[in-house]
Amino acid sequence: MKQIFAKKPLHILLEEMKGENRLRRILGPVGLTSLGVGAIIGTGIFVLTGVAAADKAGPAIILSFTAAGIACIFAALCYSEFASMVPVAGSAYTYAYATLGELFAWIIGWDLILEYAVASATVAHGWSHYFQDLIGIFHFNIPAAMSRSPFDFDPATGLLHSTGTIIDLPAIIITIIITTVLVKGIRESVGLNTTMVGIKLTAVFLVIILGAFYITPANWKPFAPYGYTGISFFGRTLWGQTGAGGAPQGVLAGAAMIFFAYIGFDSLSTHAEEAKNPQRDVPIGIITSLLLCTVLYIAVSAIITGMVPYNKINIDAPISNAFKQVGLEWAQLIISFGALAGITSVLLVMMLSQPRIFLAMARDGLLPESVFGAVHPKFRTPWKSTILTGIFVATLAGFLPLRILAELVNIGTLFAFVVVCSAVLIMRKIHPEAVRPFRAPLFPYVPILGIITCMILMFSLPEENWLRLLIWLVIGLAIYFFYGRKHSIMHKLMNKPKENSV
Ligand code: ALA
Repeated sequence: MKQIFAKKPLHILLEEMKGENRLRRILGPVGLTSLGVGAIIGTGIFVLTGVAAADKAGPAIILSFTAAGIACIFAALCYSEFASMVPVAGSAYTYAYATLGELFAWIIGWDLILEYAVASATVAHGWSHYFQDLIGIFHFNIPAAMSRSPFDFDPATGLLHSTGTIIDLPAIIITIIITTVLVKGIRESVGLNTTMVGIKLTAVFLVIILGAFYITPANWKPFAPYGYTGISFFGRTLWGQTGAGGAPQGVLAGAAMIFFAYIGFDSLSTHAEEAKNPQRDVPIGIITSLLLCTVLYIAVSAIITGMVPYNKINIDAPISNAFKQVGLEWAQLIISFGALAGITSVLLVMMLSQPRIFLAMARDGLLPESVFGAVHPKFRTPWKSTILTGIFVATLAGFLPLRILAELVNIGTLFAFVVVCSAVLIMRKIHPEAVRPFRAPLFPYVPILGIITCMILMFSLPEENWLRLLIWLVIGLAIYFFYGRKHSIMHKLMNKPKENSV
C-alpha cells in the first residue's frame, strides 16, 4: 500500500538529470517550437475537420476549435510549469510520480500510450487518406484490398463491421519509414521535421489566403445546425441534441472530436531532456506552438466552411477537396502535398515521444530496462523501444479504423491533461518552495479551469469511449501488479532497510 502511493522525491528527479545515459541536448527554442508545430498540425485539421463539421457542429466548428483551444491553453500552462520545474523525460508520467505516487504514475504512463502510440496509428491513417488523394490526382490507385482497414465502426449500431478490405498498406509503410528515421537519431529527425513544418505551414497559409477569395457567406447559415452544446453523461444527454446511436452533437461535441487536432504541444515536455535550456525554452515552445496553431485552426475552419456547405464537405481529405470543389485543382495538389508533409511530421514527433515515456518508466523499474531503457551506443536513441513502438503502431494502423482510434486517443489525452492540471495544484501545496522558472498564472484558477474544461470535453465524447478507456486502464493495472510493483526502484528502495536489518 505504502509503495503504490510512494512519491518520487523532487530532488531525486533533479539529480537523475545529471546522470549518465542521458539523451543529447541539442534543441533550442526554435527547434522546440518547430517540434511543437510539427506535432500539432496534422490529421486533426486536415482530416477530422470534415467529419466534425458534417456530423457534429456545422460551420460552428469554428467555435469548436476555439473551445478546444481554450481547454488546451489551460493545460499547456500547467504542462509548462511542470516542464520548467522538472525538465526530465517522461512528461505527465514523471509529474504524476512526483505528486500522486507510483500507482497513479503508472496509470498515466500507460494512458500516455493512448496519446502517443495510438495517436500515431490514427495519424498514419490520415497520412494514408492524403497519400491516396494525392496519387489519385495522377490517376494512380492502391489496390482496394490494401487501401483501408478491414473494420469500421458504425456509431448507429455501436458495432464493428467489415469493410471488405484486408489492410491499410500505406499506413503501415509510412510507420516503418518513420521508425527507421527515429532509430537513426534525433538530429536527423529534427532536421526532417523542420523541413516538413515549413511545407505544411505554406499549405495552411495557402488555404487561408487563397480560400478567403472563395468564401460564400451563405454557407455559414445556419451557423450551428446541431446547437452550441453537446454534453452527455454515460449515454444520457445532459445538454444539447444527440445523433445516431445517442452520440452527443453540437459545438462541444465537435470540440471533443477535433481536440485531436491540438494534441502534440504537450509532447514537447517529453523532449525536455534534449533541450539546451529546458527551463526557459520548453514553456516557450509549448505556449508559442499552441497559440500559433489555435489561430491557424480557427482561420482554416472558417475558410473551409465558408467555401463549401458543411454537409458537402468531403470526409476523407476535406481541406484539399474544398479547393477541388471550387475548381482550383492546382491548389488541391499543393494542399494535398502540404498535408502529407504535415501529417508525416506529426507522426515523426509522436513516435519520437512514445519511447521517451517508456524510457522514463524503465528507469524507474516499471518496465524492463533492458528493452525500454536501452539507449543505442552510437545513435544515442532509445532504439529498442522505438522499434517496438513502430510494430505496435503499424499493427493498429493497418487494422483498426480511424474513428475508433481518434476518439480513444482524445479521451486518453484529456485524462492525462486532467491529471497534469491536478498535479500542478498538488505540487504547489506540497512543494511551495520549489524553484519554478515558469509559473502558471492566475493560480489556482488556471489548473482548476483546465480540469473542468477537459472533463467537459470528455463527457462530450460518445459514451463507448469511457468503456474503452476503462478496459485499457484495467489491462494496465494488471501489468503493474504482475510486473511493475515488484520491479520498481521505489520498491527496492523501500525494502532495503528491512533487508539490512536481518
Ligand atoms: N494533433 C495531431 C494531428 O492532428 C495529433 O494529427
